[in-house]
Amino acid sequence: IRDDAAQVGQYIANYICKRINDFKPTANRPFVLGLPTGSSPIPTYKALIKMVKEGKLSFKNVVTFNMDEYVALPRDHPESYHTFMFREFFSHVDIPPQQVHILDGNAHDLHAECAAYEQLIKSVGGIELFLGGIGEDGHIAFNEPGSSLKSRTRIKTLAYDTILANARFFNNDINAVPRMALTVGVQTVLESREVVVVVTGQRKALALSKAIEEGINHLWTLSALQQHPWALIVVDEDATLEL
Ligand code: GLP
Repeated sequence: IRDDAAQVGQYIANYICKRINDFKPTANRPFVLGLPTGSSPIPTYKALIKMVKEGKLSFKNVVTFNMDEYVALPRDHPESYHTFMFREFFSHVDIPPQQVHILDGNAHDLHAECAAYEQLIKSVGGIELFLGGIGEDGHIAFNEPGSSLKSRTRIKTLAYDTILANARFFNNDINAVPRMALTVGVQTVLESREVVVVVTGQRKALALSKAIEEGINHLWTLSALQQHPWALIVVDEDATLEL
């Protein structure tokens, strides 16, 4: 628990920096980092960018996989997760673009896109550290309430609560929010060697308490982390309101 969102971001950035710097990459085993979108990871991204600019950290030997992407939203739309990731992070660090992986929500065959993504993750040796955020309904990536805890990368229809919550990014117009997304599954996240989750703000307080103080439950998919051998949830004071 840290005081506020900025301190949470700094803590996670320091943590990721240490993991990457301690890792010994080889030609066929880079550091594989899973990344989220949303407003919660922005302080972490800001702190990581600062570390790169100060020469303390490099993403040259890092391969990334993003958690999710909207279906049928043009890639260059300001709210696509492609645009978000380059605007908030990738354009400001030294990662070679070919090492960035984001699901293509405009792929001709979405099922094939999801299967290929899982395959790609496997081919680089799996994810070393998955950084995630959560929705107000406790979803991790876009694994909405009711998702199988064994799920893998797939197409998911967004819950009404998520569409409402994300309308703030679409001029508060709920009709502009895509209805479907591609997302890594709960099992995809659980298979990464380490999971770090950022939870900030009072809006997430109920989800946090359901996920960590109650049993494992597919209605609060973050709760699946209780079974992970190496999971860390970093929260601010506001998010602890229901604990
Ligand atoms: C979306 C993303 C999630 C993210 C969530 C939280 O639903 N698919 O991966 O965790 O937003 O967003 P925010 O951090 O803005 O509350």
